[in-house]
Amino acid sequence: MDSLASAIALLEHEPAWRDPSSFRFRADAADRLELLLIGAHDPALVSRAVALIDAMASIDAIGFETMRDAIRRGEGRAAFAPWLDVGVPTGQHYDVLDHVLAGVLALEEPDVAQPSPPREMVFYQPSPARHIVDGIARARIARDDVVMDLGAGLGHVPILVNVLTGARTLGVEREPAYVERAMDAARSLGLADVHLATGDARDADLSAATVFYLFTPFIGTVLRDVIAGIERQARERPLCVVTLGPCTRTLARMPWLRSDDADPSADDRIVVFRAGFRGG
Ligand SMILES: C[S@@+](CC[C@H](N)C(=O)[O-])C[C@H]1O[C@@H](n2cnc3c(N)ncnc32)[C@H](O)[C@@H]1O
Repeated sequence: MDSLASAIALLEHEPAWRDPSSFRFRADAADRLELLLIGAHDPALVSRAVALIDAMASIDAIGFETMRDAIRRGEGRAAFAPWLDVGVPTGQHYDVLDHVLAGVLALEEPDVAQPSPPREMVFYQPSPARHIVDGIARARIARDDVVMDLGAGLGHVPILVNVLTGARTLGVEREPAYVERAMDAARSLGLADVHLATGDARDADLSAATVFYLFTPFIGTVLRDVIAGIERQARERPLCVVTLGPCTRTLARMPWLRSDDADPSADDRIVVFRAGFRGG
């Protein structure tokens, strides 16, 4: 697909992208067309390319609805099966699984009243979905776990973890508009075991969770206070802390946490810590 004309000709005769489950094919093809459209001047070619992109978006919408129905029937894991073989991914980029998850959750990022977060608190950015899948596998999250996302944003982690494992999931998020959107998405998918609450993670009730997740939601003294809260919980019961991003380095310095990771300070991939008090 080296020119817009040849890309269009190829795709107009290619049946593969018309299969609703071919999200990756459509995502790659639409990206390629968008790139080739930059600087394109022939109005006929431009309108054929736009028609193809629109047709792909319509088929995506059918695929997303099929997946949403599967989730409502309790078959979400099977619906996501084509994308679950992620290995141990690295990096912060997004891929086709994020595209699928975004389509399935149909979450619009709301305009928030306070665009820059308070001191030591980090702005919203979703965890790349392949890291969530990796975290589930390496932390061995199962149906009897209770997973809590501290700084849960729009709820990608609580929702995907619940869909893939059946575990009850909790989230605390300081921005009420995010919580409202996340809970709307969970309700529309019939996910009764996903609960997000508005609040500051420092004040959250941590007593139910067996797994805590942090994608660097805060730094400095806020992070230290929340880690101290997790440590108090770890003195009571075995638990696991799953991290992504620079906050991992702070967790790696905690003497009560241990990790099997070759580099427990790695900030470009998931690191799983287990608490080293009794039974941990
Ligand atoms: C990097 S995003 C992570 C979002 C989500 N955990 C994910 O991985 O997709 C950090 C989130 O933490 C929230 N946050 C920051 N400080 C917070 C605090 N003290 N209490 C609760 N949420 C906080 C931000 O509003 C933002 O939505």
